Amino acid sequence: MDRPNWVPPDVDVTRPSVARLYDYHLGGSHNFESDRAFGDRTLRTMPDLPELLRDNRDFLRRVVRELCALGVDQFLDLGSGIPTVGNVHEVARASTPGARVVCVDHDAVAVAHGRALLADDPQTAAVLADVREPDVVLAAVRRTCLIDFSRPVGVLMIALLHFAHDEDRPRELVADYMGGLPVGSYPAIGHGRADGSRGIRNAAAVYEGDRSPNPMRLRSAAEVVDLFGSLTLLDPGVVLLPRRHPDAVDDRRAGSAVADDYPGFGGLGRRD
Ligand SMILES: C[S@@+](CC[C@H](N)C(=O)[O-])C[C@H]1O[C@@H](n2cnc3c(N)ncnc32)[C@H](O)[C@@H]1O
Repeated sequence: MDRPNWVPPDVDVTRPSVARLYDYHLGGSHNFESDRAFGDRTLRTMPDLPELLRDNRDFLRRVVRELCALGVDQFLDLGSGIPTVGNVHEVARASTPGARVVCVDHDAVAVAHGRALLADDPQTAAVLADVREPDVVLAAVRRTCLIDFSRPVGVLMIALLHFAHDEDRPRELVADYMGGLPVGSYPAIGHGRADGSRGIRNAAAVYEGDRSPNPMRLRSAAEVVDLFGSLTLLDPGVVLLPRRHPDAVDDRRAGSAVADDYPGFGGLGRRD
């Protein structure tokens, strides 16, 4: 088994991880044999998975731009993953040069790589933590001194909460994060769809099986709406990822049709 020198000591490279699988499907290089083998099994059941993940990154980019246009200049990126093209700080800085970003992930490779990449950037930080512990996460975020807790924050939970099971109480998790941040803060959620294409349902079945890094809990549109709880859901609500304010300028998909059984939803809310 390959073990490059950038791998943190505690990482078991023989077990696949969600962060490294995502990196593999997006064409990155921070993944191991175990990730590639599991990723290839998933791909056999859902050949268009990389397309969904690229759409997901486009959704992330559009949401960050939208938030910058609304005046947000600080972001909490929960389940940030291994840094890849179009990182939150890069997208935000294009319009908001002083934007600050705190990334949180429980994957040691993602956080180590994030720290290495962001080492010269005093406006960003990467925190190793489990997002299912909002108090611990918010305390760690405070310690970075990057987020001003008296001003609105964009809270990104993109392709994250389908790894939170019902017993993890994802609705309460969202409420806890938003309750710990000021009025005017924005939660963004991107999520795998339970009644989506056969491909995503097959892929989810692979994640139920042997050697899975983390089974998924896909949700319906109504369930994703429910994750926002009493927060205000901004226009156009929870919609298929490519349908959230597609931009004509540089969207890969601009103008192409979105299938009715498209496998992912997203939405943006606000704490009023
Ligand atoms: C599919 S990736 C999404 C990355 C990024 N948010 C995006 O949309 O491009 C999901 C990320 O969530 C992280 N993750 C899953 N469960 C987590 C948890 N309980 N605590 C922290 N991170 C978690 C994984 O390690 C992975 O990096």
